[in-house]
Amino acid sequence: MTEFADRWGLGPEKYWLRGALPEEKVRFSEEVGVWEVSGYPEVLEVLGDSGSFSADSTRLFDVDEEQAKLIKGDMAQMEGPDHLHMRRQVGRAFSPRRMQDLESRITALGSRLADRLAGRDRFDLLGDFVDDLSGILFSELLGTPPEQRHMFKAVDRTMDADVQMSTVDGGGEEYFDSLLGPLLPLRDFLGEVIDERAAEPRQDLLSLMLEFRYLDGRPMERDEIINFAVAVLGAGHLTSPILIGNTMLCLESHPGQAARVRADRSLVPGMFEEVMRYFTPATTSYRASLTAVEVGGVKIPEDQMVSLHLGAANRDPRQFPDADTFDVGRAPNQHVGYGRGAHYCVGAAMARVETRVIFDLLLDRFPRLRVDPETPPVFFGSPEFTGVRSLAVRVD
Ligand code: HEM
Repeated sequence: MTEFADRWGLGPEKYWLRGALPEEKVRFSEEVGVWEVSGYPEVLEVLGDSGSFSADSTRLFDVDEEQAKLIKGDMAQMEGPDHLHMRRQVGRAFSPRRMQDLESRITALGSRLADRLAGRDRFDLLGDFVDDLSGILFSELLGTPPEQRHMFKAVDRTMDADVQMSTVDGGGEEYFDSLLGPLLPLRDFLGEVIDERAAEPRQDLLSLMLEFRYLDGRPMERDEIINFAVAVLGAGHLTSPILIGNTMLCLESHPGQAARVRADRSLVPGMFEEVMRYFTPATTSYRASLTAVEVGGVKIPEDQMVSLHLGAANRDPRQFPDADTFDVGRAPNQHVGYGRGAHYCVGAAMARVETRVIFDLLLDRFPRLRVDPETPPVFFGSPEFTGVRSLAVRVD
């Protein structure tokens, strides 16, 4: 069972990839002062109880005015009716109609970018292809100039930051500082584009947010829209590329499953759901307890940081028969890789279209696409993700 993790060089901290799920599904880690929830039903208990758990994990820390300016407007940290109201507005950018347009846009863009790789026998699947494609798509989604997509690289740096959420000895403040610091140039850039859109709105997500009014009629402040956009980029810009990279590793390790998918492309959407479960990219989410509450029979006191191990929940045998088996035809497959409940991933529809269309295009253009056995994959350093940052592939 450790074969998969060992083969790709993933260490013991990714315990769920090694069949080492803890007996205690809800436990307090003294080391970091955080409650860890690793079982599937227990994770659902937390995600389904917004009365007892808040997504605003900053409320447990002494966030100063400067730091607060960097957080307000991030919907992942919001709660209640305004959060729901904002999700509705954002959802307009991911409507079925928009997703249809996206499909043809990706096909056209992807073909153009794949042309640039003609004649090469190997390349970096992420760095030479998928990341760039995603950069253009996110520029178009937000409404920023695509030629300035290199500005999004700041997000790569936060995903590479090897910092652990901790409530011990100012660990929380340090955690937020190290994640927010590298984003400052990106924030300035987004601010300028927001000013342009305020003068001349278009059909893009930044313009949609300029139109947005909170339930009390207040518009979003400039800083709030910046934070919103940074959060969308953080949540979505690299996660779909990661899912494609992780998929390549799963297929390489399971040749029988790879052959099934190549022979029957209708299995592709289900395959991605199975990679979301088996090799979950976004492995950790946080909530702060608002009151003393029991989860899985264990009492969590008020004002505690709770970390939800989504990757581990996705391997829970109480929910998934043969949980450690990779099966592209698995059904049902109610994984929590996109979260669940009030904060369920707002971009899941986009991620599903992106990954399916890009993967189909890759198989069409490069029928012999496979992981380069001579170059090990490089993973992002953040403990909250398990995702390929760079992946050498061969196509000859
Ligand atoms: C494979 C790709 C993706 C994965 C694995 C992923 C994962 C997640 C997860 C686990 C959550 C829930 C977090 C929580 O409850 O604390 C989430 C929320 C979110 N995701 Fe995604 N996501 C992906 C793609 C995207 C894309 C493409 C976008 C945007 C275009 C996006 C935007 C968001 C936003 C804004 C939220 C916060 C929603 C809220 O708090 O109401 N994600 N995502």
